[in-house]
Amino acid sequence: MGLKKIKKIYKFQSQFYDLTRWIFVWNRKKALIKLNLKQGEKVLVVGCGTGYGFDFINKKIGIKGEIIGVDYSSHMLDKARKKINKYKLKNIKLIQIDAVKYIPPKVDVVIYSYSITMVPEWRKSLENSIRVLKEGGRIVITDFSEINVPILRLLLNLRFKKYGVNNKLPLKKELDKYFNNIDYKEYFLGYNFIALAKISNNFL
Ligand SMILES: C[S@@+](CC[C@H](N)C(=O)[O-])C[C@H]1O[C@@H](n2cnc3c(N)ncnc32)[C@H](O)[C@@H]1O
Repeated sequence: MGLKKIKKIYKFQSQFYDLTRWIFVWNRKKALIKLNLKQGEKVLVVGCGTGYGFDFINKKIGIKGEIIGVDYSSHMLDKARKKINKYKLKNIKLIQIDAVKYIPPKVDVVIYSYSITMVPEWRKSLENSIRVLKEGGRIVITDFSEINVPILRLLLNLRFKKYGVNNKLPLKKELDKYFNNIDYKEYFLGYNFIALAKISNNFL
């Protein structure tokens, strides 16, 4: 989706995102748990939006850890900032930029939670993120895939199209280029997926 449209959609949606989005986006917490985060780790969240999971991550990585949240929408980041202040979360840096243009520092963990399917140059963004993973680093991606129920698939695809979500990305295939062992699982008849990969066998 074009950045202008992203800006417009999330300027509006930021007002009620946290109140309503849980209805559609499932498994976010499950994806975070799968990462098995450790004290002191540095975590990059691409398309962090309003900062879903920042409190959970913060607790797991402790005061020596660090979160870098990247998002194009300043309105979504404003909400994240409010959350950080409200819960007194520490060591979180927010960066407003197009994910594709962002060259991250070395990190232990990368998270894409319902963001990569909106990024037109998703392959480039993914490569930038994988390149900076440290030895033993992990990447988790959770997002929409294609539900295996024809009528629902049709309706959902119309909705996804409206919001610029490409739920047909060959993400598993793309990750296979970099990792030997990917834990890829679809849930709710293919409505969404979680992909987890570890860097020990990366080819970059
Ligand atoms: C559905 S929200 C997900 C937010 C959060 N990760 C979550 O799990 O709730 C998608 C987010 O991706 C961001 N986004 C989409 N395309 C982007 C891009 N090219 N660069 C940076 N952020 C982007 C949007 O601004 C929005 O905040």
